[in-house]
Amino acid sequence: MNITEIYEKANKYDFSNIDICTKNQAINLIICHIKKINMTKFYTSMNEIILSKEEVTILFKYLDELIYNKIPLQYIIGEVPFYKEKYIVTKDVLIPRQDTEILVDKAIAYINRYNLKNALDLCSGSGAIGISISNNSKINCMHFVDVSKNALEIINKNIIKNDVTVDTKIIYSNLFENLMTTGYKYDIIVSNPPYIPTNDIDNLSEYVKREPRLALDGGISGLDFYIKIIDKARDFLKDNGYLMFEIGYNQMESLSKIFSNYVEYEILEKVKDLNLNDRVIICRFHKI
Ligand SMILES: C[S@@+](CC[C@H](N)C(=O)[O-])C[C@H]1O[C@@H](n2cnc3c(N)ncnc32)[C@H](O)[C@@H]1O
Repeated sequence: MNITEIYEKANKYDFSNIDICTKNQAINLIICHIKKINMTKFYTSMNEIILSKEEVTILFKYLDELIYNKIPLQYIIGEVPFYKEKYIVTKDVLIPRQDTEILVDKAIAYINRYNLKNALDLCSGSGAIGISISNNSKINCMHFVDVSKNALEIINKNIIKNDVTVDTKIIYSNLFENLMTTGYKYDIIVSNPPYIPTNDIDNLSEYVKREPRLALDGGISGLDFYIKIIDKARDFLKDNGYLMFEIGYNQMESLSKIFSNYVEYEILEKVKDLNLNDRVIICRFHKI
């Protein structure tokens, strides 16, 4: 079957609520996965691509799962492109979002500009933030912390998949709890913690609700993790170290207020995403 025939056959589905991509993008992604080709190769050869009977069966099985069972395409395929890498994702980890690449870009810029040596990716999920920073900056050492043991296994697989060569350590911990006795101090801590207010979770799309609640639920205000991390990070940052967060689109004012309770933190940058929503906050820590 060629691509046009596949698009036609897929008209039996209602793609209007898939909320991650359009019908053709979904089909194209699945074909790339089945044929083990990237998007560039797909678009340059799409007129010649033919799927065998078995491949068509797989493709429509995936579409059934996407449309009828509301499983995110990234979980069906089992991987997702993020930054310059590809990441294994399962239902145990949040699907890394494109918006999060802003945090990665900023961290890389600071690491290279200020010659930062060691970093912590706190609440690391699939490890996408820490791994992309490791592979694209001058950092020497990256630690990953998550409280989900299944996520830690995925981080390990993604470190191997992406040929990370810097020193890495994967740490099972409830935030900084298991780091207390290590004496580690970091030049930079990056984090995209859970930040959805608890009461908003029921209103999320069926697809987002497939992601681990542990990765989404930021407590009643959505700010629980930021409050704890900002407070505790003071024990784990070197003097002049950096703390960088991804935040929800409406959380900048609250975050600025939380930081202003601490004389040790200086807000350096507030960064917006492509939709002009607040997305990243960057602070410098001054030991007093
Ligand atoms: C929003 S996800 C971010 C995942 C990944 N950093 C990303 O940006 O794609 C938050 C992560 O925090 C982890 N988490 C939740 N509570 C935690 C805790 N108390 N300590 C450490 N990690 C926690 C979840 O398991 C999840 O992997």
